[in-house]
This record gives sequence, structure tokens and C-alpha cells, in this order.
Amino acid sequence: MKKNEDLYKNELAKVVQLEKENIFLYWKGRVALYALLKAIGVGENDEVIIPAFTCVVVPNAIKYLGAKPIYVDIDPNTYNIDVRLLENHISSKTKVIVCQNTFGLSSNLEQIVELAVSHNIFTIEDCTHGFGGVYSEKPNGTFCDAAFYSTQWNKPFSTGIGGFAISHHKKIKDNLITVNVDLLKPSVVNNISLSILYFIREHIMIHQFYWTMLKAYRWLSRHNLVQGSSSGKELTSTTMPANYFKGISKVQIRKGVLNIRSLSNTMLIRKKNAKLYTDYLKKENKLHVSPELFDNHSFLVYPLRVKDKDKIFRLAELRKIPLGDWFCSPIHPVVTCFEQWDLDTGKYPLAQEISSQIINLPTNLSSIEPILSFLEEIKENIVSHSSSIE
Ligand SMILES: Cc1ncc(COP(=O)(O)O)c(C=O)c1O
Repeated sequence: MKKNEDLYKNELAKVVQLEKENIFLYWKGRVALYALLKAIGVGENDEVIIPAFTCVVVPNAIKYLGAKPIYVDIDPNTYNIDVRLLENHISSKTKVIVCQNTFGLSSNLEQIVELAVSHNIFTIEDCTHGFGGVYSEKPNGTFCDAAFYSTQWNKPFSTGIGGFAISHHKKIKDNLITVNVDLLKPSVVNNISLSILYFIREHIMIHQFYWTMLKAYRWLSRHNLVQGSSSGKELTSTTMPANYFKGISKVQIRKGVLNIRSLSNTMLIRKKNAKLYTDYLKKENKLHVSPELFDNHSFLVYPLRVKDKDKIFRLAELRKIPLGDWFCSPIHPVVTCFEQWDLDTGKYPLAQEISSQIINLPTNLSSIEPILSFLEEIKENIVSHSSSIE
């Protein structure tokens, strides 16, 4: 295990240009966030600022520590915190600001970090979508005090489920070592069920069955019948599930060492496809990702805004087009009982509107011709450039 673990850390270290001693491996990305918050000393009554357009596991990690998530509405161009609103949300209780690299789009980190430093607040980059990309000539995730990444199924490279944290900050690193002493060891059952999932994914989950398999996987994981991304409890309550704080398993490490090799090639494909989407949308005067806003995007997916999301998903399923649904609400995939997560959705109009419109186009396909034809078919439904919300 140790030899493979070192190998894996070395591979990750090369991408983020840090020593392998700055890298910490976990069962999932959310566990890495929880560990980082704990290492920073976040606890009862502290506040952690996050974008109001994220995955529910992010506020969960904060709530598990007794702290409070403070949401900030997003900038419609970057899908990250709107920097202009940030200062108003800082209080004497703020311990951390989480900047989110949504869909692989790093943004405004200089301003966020500068503001955080001036208030003596730590910054963590949620880089779960952005491993392998670059921002202001630095590898994604290295701009803040710390960052966490995900290697779950649809991430830049996959270990099925999985995640890691990085930090170059001495105090955070030292504390992480202490915090990690409590990590649970994945069980034999965990290892076996992950191996079965790898087999299913590699041999059965072919393009044609995308929608059927996606629905089946989500249903099974919600009912805790497979090693899913999120258990039912994580989506319905803010109580920490048993066995949450878990380290990485042998099978994940082995997968990581293998799959990280394809990262640079996948990144080239993602960027090429993203450019094709942008060119098409620009030509049609539709809303698109603005290339000038981002230094060197790592398009995990391509965000597209449509007027009737349900209709587009139904049509995509019929045409066997693999679309993603990040994020269907300000704390995806939760759509009710927001107050449990201290979220008053009425206060975040842009996040609300965007989550009702957004779909994700795949960027990792060798050919996106079928997707471009699909876009042509749904053209009238795509939000146009002039109707963009500011
Ligand atoms: C923005 C964001 N943060 C955190 C996570 C959590 O990552 P993981 O599933 O590895 O725990 C996700 C998962 O997709 C995410 O989209």
C-alpha cells in the first residue's frame, strides 16, 4: 500500500507542482474538505463562506463541525462567488472562505484571497472540478491556503469515488497530520464493492445506456445499496453519517495511479470540445463561457443555460445525449427543506435562476458532433446572449 500510495501522491504532486508531503488522501473529496476545516480549527459558531451554487456535501462538512455556512450569490459569468458581494458577508465569526472552481472555471482568486488576507481569514479552493487546470499560471488549487479535489466518477480523472487535499501552509499541514489520525480504514467490503462498481462502469456503462444507468446508480446510492457518491442521509439531514471520516482504500489508489495517466490527453480533448461549443454558441448569439474571463480553463463540463430544462432533459434522454444536471439547486441535489442547511433561497436570486436553467454538456467525448446537432435542434430553447442576467 505504502509504495502505491507514494506513487499516487507523486503523480498528483507533479500536477499541482508541490512536494508529495503536501498531499493528503481521503475516501471522498468532501472528507478532504472536512479534514481541512478541522485542521484550520473551524468549530462551534464559526462561519464559513461558500457560493450559493454548490453541492450539499459542502455545507454538510461545515455543519458537521458545528459551524455555519454563509452563502454568497454567484457571478453569472463565473459560477463562483460574486466578489462584489463578498465583503458584506464577512463577520468577526468568519474563519474560512471557500472559492469554488465551478465546472473547471477558476476565477477572481486574487481578489478573494486579498480580501481574506486583509481580514485574517483562511481560503480553501473547492477544486473538485478543476484538477489539472491552470489559473494565473499556477496549477488550480495552489492559489489559496489549501484546496480539495474529487476523483469521483465524473471528475477530471476518476477513482470511482475519492478525493485529496493539498496545502502548502505549515500550520494546516501539521494539523492535518493530527486530524488524520482519526481516519477510519476502508473495510474489505468497501474495497470489494468499489471493485464491482469499476467492473460495471468499464464493461456495462456504455454511452447508449447513460440515462438508464445514471438513474439506477443514483437510486441505488440514495438507498445505500451501492457505494454511491452520496448516501440518503447526506441529502436529507445535516447529521454526520457513521463512517464518514474515512481514508483512501487500496483499490482507489491503484485506480488513481492508472487513471491519472490519461489526464493530460483528456484535458486537451476537453479544451478542444469547449472551444467548439463556444464557437457554435457565439455564432448563434447564445450565452457562452467567455474565454477572456478565464486564464486556462479546465472544462470539466460545459455550462449551458436553457429556458425549459425539464423539456431538454426529456429530449436528451430520447436522443441518447449524455447531459449533466449540476447544479439543480443552490445546494445540489437538495430541492426542499433548505432551512436545515441555513439557506434562505430567496436571498440568492442569481443562483436560483441559474440552477433552474443550467445543464452541462460533456467535454470528454472524442466527437461532439451528435451534441452539436442536438444544440441545433434545441436552439430556440438556449438562453441568448442579450438576455443574460447581470
Ligand atoms: C462543487 C463540489 N464540491 C464538492 C464535491 C464533493 O466531492 P466528492 O463527491 O468527492 O465528495 C462535489 C461533488 O461533485 C462538488 O461538485
